Amino acid sequence: MWRPETEQRASERPVLRPRRLRATDTLRRMLRETDLSVNHLVHPMFVAAGSRIERPIASMPGHAQRSVDKFSAEIDEILATRIPAVILFGLPESKDVNGSEAWNPHGPVPMAIAELKRSAPDTVVIADVCLCEYTSHGHCGVLDASQGVDNDATLPLLAQAAVAYAEAGADIVAPSAMMDGQVAAIRWALDAAGHGGVAILAYAAKFASAFYGPFREAAGSAPAFGDRRPYQLDPANRREALREVSLDVDEGADMVMVKPAGPYLDIIRQVRDRTSLPVAAYQVSGEYAMLKAAAERGWIDERRAAMESLVGIRRAGADVIITYYAKEAARWMEDGLRP
Ligand code: PBG
Repeated sequence: MWRPETEQRASERPVLRPRRLRATDTLRRMLRETDLSVNHLVHPMFVAAGSRIERPIASMPGHAQRSVDKFSAEIDEILATRIPAVILFGLPESKDVNGSEAWNPHGPVPMAIAELKRSAPDTVVIADVCLCEYTSHGHCGVLDASQGVDNDATLPLLAQAAVAYAEAGADIVAPSAMMDGQVAAIRWALDAAGHGGVAILAYAAKFASAFYGPFREAAGSAPAFGDRRPYQLDPANRREALREVSLDVDEGADMVMVKPAGPYLDIIRQVRDRTSLPVAAYQVSGEYAMLKAAAERGWIDERRAAMESLVGIRRAGADVIITYYAKEAARWMEDGLRP
């Protein structure tokens, strides 16, 4: 006789057996709730000004700073694995207080965009828009008299950078400076410059995270003094993150991002449930470096752990994942590996 689960006593044989549906690989494949495919992955690239540069990034094995003339092997791999998109970060020739190389049309990012559009025209090119890689002080905007970041003075500079990347052929610009009003300022500038078709992926909920450590080595963007807590989100704040997302949606974002990913899966889920826009999540440099470091020591099975981290981000609700594992994950999936 059937009885509700709650009435079943521990001493009895169980009636309800979820294990039945896990018995074979085919059953598991049929009933898997979350899928992960190459279509969901975005590959980050660090573009150096100059030529014949290929500097491996020690804390991010498999990644390097490269000048545009050293792109071809990477582009071949992206095409071979069918990764749909890349996101670009620039390492300029020189830095100044205003980060003016950020909007130099001959700077590393516009050059990289042009090269990608020439040799891989179907690949979606996303350009990160921030000043931290371009300012001598390493902050994400220009400074005011008291060495704080001047929000409103930074907006036109971010807008100018976004227009330069659109001009070079970027499909999507991704403002990551966490300045108030940056999405609206960029949308307005893009439209005014005739780039109404260029989309904005807003780093909407970007937390002041220790997990950006390796990126700051990779992009040479560590702040010279202070930290980013006056503009990035407090890791403890969920409601504030949701507010940031809704403001960016109101300002005209086409997609919103949560960053980092792993420690913020609850935020990804809540953003997914509150907006109908596509949601991106950024598995950041420190998340990658931790997996790589543990794998190097033989402490975890890298493929399984990395794929589990990615499917977890998808399960939380991300449509798209920016990850330093993009190429490797794409190859593992080609080999038939599933998380
Ligand atoms: C800012 C930016 C950062 C990252 C992406 N865009 C760094 C920061 O805010 O310090 C971090 C990405 C990563 O850690 O992988 N331009």
